[in-house]
Amino acid sequence: MANPLDVLPVADGIGLPWDVAVDDAVGAIATARARYGDTFVVESGGGRYLFTFSPTGVESFYALGEETASKGVADFLMLRRKLPDEVFAGRRLLPSSLFRRDDVTSYLANLDGALDATEVELGESGTVDLFALTRRLGHRMGLASWAGPGCADGDAFERLVRAFDVLDGSDAFVHPDAMAAVAASGMRAERAALTEVSEVIEASLRQHDSTPEVRAGLFSRIVDAWASEPPDVRNRGIAMDIALIHIASMSNLMAALGWALVDVIVHPDQLRLVADGDRELASSCALESTRLAQRSIMARVVLEPVAFDTGVGVVDVPKGWTIATLLPLLNTSAAAGLEDWDPSRWHRHRLVDAHALPSPMLVTAFGHGRHSCPAQPFSLAAMTMAMTRLVGRYDMRPEWVGYPRPVSAQIGGVARAADPCPVGYTKR
Ligand code: HEM
Repeated sequence: MANPLDVLPVADGIGLPWDVAVDDAVGAIATARARYGDTFVVESGGGRYLFTFSPTGVESFYALGEETASKGVADFLMLRRKLPDEVFAGRRLLPSSLFRRDDVTSYLANLDGALDATEVELGESGTVDLFALTRRLGHRMGLASWAGPGCADGDAFERLVRAFDVLDGSDAFVHPDAMAAVAASGMRAERAALTEVSEVIEASLRQHDSTPEVRAGLFSRIVDAWASEPPDVRNRGIAMDIALIHIASMSNLMAALGWALVDVIVHPDQLRLVADGDRELASSCALESTRLAQRSIMARVVLEPVAFDTGVGVVDVPKGWTIATLLPLLNTSAAAGLEDWDPSRWHRHRLVDAHALPSPMLVTAFGHGRHSCPAQPFSLAAMTMAMTRLVGRYDMRPEWVGYPRPVSAQIGGVARAADPCPVGYTKR
């Protein structure tokens, strides 16, 4: 079987944004695809990447097993550009253990409470940045769900918001160009923010320990996991479990909610129905906006040499390579009409016309196959609740200049807006 370097084109002069300065990270890979076709190799920062965009190549990608080609390792290598190793080492409750049915019910109840607080902060009328609003909402819902007593209110909340804004792991793919500076600083700001998180959580733990009969969901499970450790190890371990869960959770959901609100606000027909409480439509709008806002690089690090069908032949991808595809180059171009916002293309969680695509795997909001997002039902329920509530209670008017643009260096996750996105609002 052939080595990819013997049979596939190597994209000349293309690097990935955490290795070299790139103005438009997705655009650079699009240019390579236009020049070299659906499968090509990128050599960047000493690593080798096999990019694939053909129907067969994308299907082969989603069929890769974690033991031979790992998503976990790819995520870790990405996030550790931004986060100190101690956030990852020794974790006892991982973000993947967040979605038990009763957990989700409690997160949605906390979202309801966070929306109450948002309404108080918004008041009767004003102007607010839409993405800042959804981000703050996400912090409040998340911290109420897993960070312990008192962490979603007052001074403790504000301190955690400031710390987690410094610790935002998504900077690794939203601002990959900034990662060299993070490394050069020895992650000083990130380490200081982790200390701040530990201090706030420690105070919350004291409150928890003084009323052990009050037990709350995920936070209690985290506390139980560290029960047998001496106080210092216990405090730090609990704080780091909470930190990793919060960092993982805030990455995409609230950005996606921001785009869903942007899109529904500029579509008066759908806006009227969502404001009247049409939950099914709100969920379709959320899926559609997420599809269009997807900037994800989907990556797997090869752990054992693997036979990979690109669609024009099978290559033997060596250990240490990364196999990747890019959702923004598939989601809007795999068939005609996909560049438009049209929530009616979704029936529940499925694309109505998936059978008309060269492969149904060419379009997605939450991924396909074994690694598809375990948080999809929760995320759609949360976006639906927040959209119906916010546009139901407030008349919202765009005050942005032109439809918001994604951050151009971003390669991964759901788009973050490059510019402010002000919206005027008046209580109905
Ligand atoms: C609108 C919000 C979200 C979007 C669009 C989204 C999207 C995705 C996508 C596309 C994947 C598959 C990636 C791949 O195959 O490489 C994924 C996986 C994953 N997502 Fe989400 N996600 C969202 C919210 C969340 C939230 C709130 C969490 C909470 C922690 C979460 C946790 C995960 C985890 C743990 C995986 C990996 C699953 C595995 O490897 O088996 N996601 N997500």
